[in-house]
Amino acid sequence: MAIERTLCIIKPDAVEKKRSGAILAMLEEAGFTIVACKRMALSRPVAEGFYAVHKARPFFGELVEFMTRSPVFVVVLEREDAVAKYRQVMGATDPAKADAGTIRKAHGGSVGENAVHGSDSLDNAKIEIGYFFAASKVAPVAG
Ligand code: CMP
Repeated sequence: MAIERTLCIIKPDAVEKKRSGAILAMLEEAGFTIVACKRMALSRPVAEGFYAVHKARPFFGELVEFMTRSPVFVVVLEREDAVAKYRQVMGATDPAKADAGTIRKAHGGSVGENAVHGSDSLDNAKIEIGYFFAASKVAPVAG
């Protein structure tokens, strides 16, 4: 299996509850290397652009409102099969349906405020990483 990268966002609810460190620790324990990480306040246009694929959904306004409420951590994760592995560790979108031991089960509160975001495919991971990080700001892929 190939070494991949994926994008994690630690969302406002988790940052507000001081869960960022615990979430990063879960990710490291699951074998991910944190190759880039920054704390930032998403502006409305940046949040709308990131979630543009959900623009027609009834929850879009609520989603943008939530993601701009307070700062997030934007994190690039690397490991073998990173996209699929992170989706396992992250858990289902609705924390109530997430498996025990997953980040969303441990730290998510609701389908809207679910602690973390994760890329859903390798193609989208590349787009999402590029949305937040210039290639020159991310360390080279581990050998
Ligand atoms: P995320 O992985 O960040 O991608 C899109 C987000 O939309 C998703 O996580 C959820 O937090 C959010 N979302 C999905 N369904 C709903 C919903 N019914 N109400 C509010 N937010 C939702």
